[in-house]
Amino acid sequence: MVSFVCGIFGCLCDGAPQVILDGLKRLEYRGYDSVGVAVINNNKIALEKDKGRIDQFIGGLDETRLYGEVGVGHTRWATHGAPCKENAHPHLDCTKTIAVVHNGVLENFLQLREELARKGHHFTSNTDTEVIPHMIEEGMKAGLPLKEAVVQATKSIKGSMACIIIGTSEPNKMICVRRESPLVIGVGPKGAYCASDIPALLPFTKRVLIMQDDTIATLERGRVNLEEIGGGAVEPQFSNVTWDLKMAEKSGYPHFMIKEIYDQPVAIRDTLKVPETFLDRAADLLNDKIYLSGSGTSYHACLSTSYMMSRLLGIDVRPVLSSEFNEAVSDLQGSTVVAVSQSGETADTLSAVKYAKGKGAKILGITNTLGSSITVLSNAYICTQSGPEIGVAATKTFLTQLTALDLLTLRVGLKKGRISEGDYRSMSQQMNRLPRLIEETLGRCEKVKELALKYSTRRNAFFLARGINVATAMEGALKLKEISYIHAEGYPAGESKHGPISLVERDFLCVFIAPRDATRGRVIGNIMEMKARGAEIFSIITEGDEELKEVSNEFFEVPEAPDLLYPMLCTVPLQVFAYHVANFRGLDPDKPRNLAKSVTVL
Ligand code: M6R
Repeated sequence: MVSFVCGIFGCLCDGAPQVILDGLKRLEYRGYDSVGVAVINNNKIALEKDKGRIDQFIGGLDETRLYGEVGVGHTRWATHGAPCKENAHPHLDCTKTIAVVHNGVLENFLQLREELARKGHHFTSNTDTEVIPHMIEEGMKAGLPLKEAVVQATKSIKGSMACIIIGTSEPNKMICVRRESPLVIGVGPKGAYCASDIPALLPFTKRVLIMQDDTIATLERGRVNLEEIGGGAVEPQFSNVTWDLKMAEKSGYPHFMIKEIYDQPVAIRDTLKVPETFLDRAADLLNDKIYLSGSGTSYHACLSTSYMMSRLLGIDVRPVLSSEFNEAVSDLQGSTVVAVSQSGETADTLSAVKYAKGKGAKILGITNTLGSSITVLSNAYICTQSGPEIGVAATKTFLTQLTALDLLTLRVGLKKGRISEGDYRSMSQQMNRLPRLIEETLGRCEKVKELALKYSTRRNAFFLARGINVATAMEGALKLKEISYIHAEGYPAGESKHGPISLVERDFLCVFIAPRDATRGRVIGNIMEMKARGAEIFSIITEGDEELKEVSNEFFEVPEAPDLLYPMLCTVPLQVFAYHVANFRGLDPDKPRNLAKSVTVL
């Protein structure tokens, strides 16, 4: 499927171009291969766009051309139509009086484009988006006002779209449409704004409205009119965001990723406060037939939870990668699918959810994004409390997913009588110790930086563990590979002898997750196997484990903790390790190549 994962921003306020560029910078994590801005001035559309990142774009901008009070902007991640000036948004119609920015996929754009070309429309890009301004132009030629022409166009378009549209016919208005892709409106004392997500709005307002699917909004200064695309007014429901701007910025850290790693104690503390009523509603959905589904890091949270549920509840739940779900699972009647996605917008996970719902499953969503598609599609959901995560690599959202899923597991255990009240109380108390233990672990991470320097030139690494920490190992490998471009594999340590060990030669890096739990003895056996082939061993161990220190070339000690907490504690040094390795290799850990924060393509 062709698609874009992009950030869009629009505003009605003084100095619109500057505000748009500021907003786009906060959306750059969504895509960063090209950028563009269009504003209305002197009843004309002034357009500037180019390939490259926003700072580069600003550097080359002729600011005398861009001034005005109404405008839209876009930051793009291309999969179809090369990243180049022509394909960058905004896109205009033939008369150059309508400008559109879009995030989504138009499934029938080829057919629409052919029809429009037959009517004489001229296209200048390879994007699907460009049909939108031309369709609006057609409607307006037939006498429709701007908003009605947008509605008419929207009805003919198949696919996902978050769009912001401006036109010189009504130069004080901005039209916003949402179908499947996210869009948020903000109204502040100095103007009205619209963006792909909340952090982009925070410098201007905390009063936001999350647009629902198939709605269209007309924004004027001081006025928001909301309707369903099919007709019918909708009462705008604004709410006040509690995140402050600082939470969405780097707070003095050099990168979002490291800031977000250090945010983890607070994020976990906040997630531990999930109200029991929410947990109960979620727990009531769970039966003995449970699937856990997610992608990437969120899948690792699923895998970890499958071990936890098996151990604590005696239920064998099945973790399934979202991208494989529709092929791997068929018997869903009477089941519950726990869909885990920090963004709540991952196309693979949404597809699994829709498939499962269609086959009679109930859906429990675990997400960090209130108002996201997952929350809309789920029978119940738990919102993790990470605040915005900007770095492409998932860090704090992973630990809060594990926290929420652990809380859920304990609650289900209590309700189903599989955990006694006493055990429930003591394990809940253990969970409450987690933020302090994470702080303590972070406090020791200077050593990880030294090890990152030592290993930063390696070309390969294995991340190995047994039991629940296989998920931790896989997460450590994913973090390293996605931001440092070192080939890394995470897998169960017992599997080495079935193939991978043939790769091991002198100095091959093996990272073992080896806390003091029931698997420790067998993990030591696996370390010895690798050592015998000349591997370099870096182990994550429980403090004071002298035997493991002895058999490892390097080690990092996490604090002594209950087994339940080791997956979280052991993840922290692995995140910090990946971050520093990327830095030592001269790479930007916040924006790894070929990736985007929200993967809304199948
Ligand atoms: O938003 P989601 O949690 O659904 O995202 C799923 C994956 O795309 C995501 O976890 C990805 O693997 C991260 N970049 C890993 O750091």
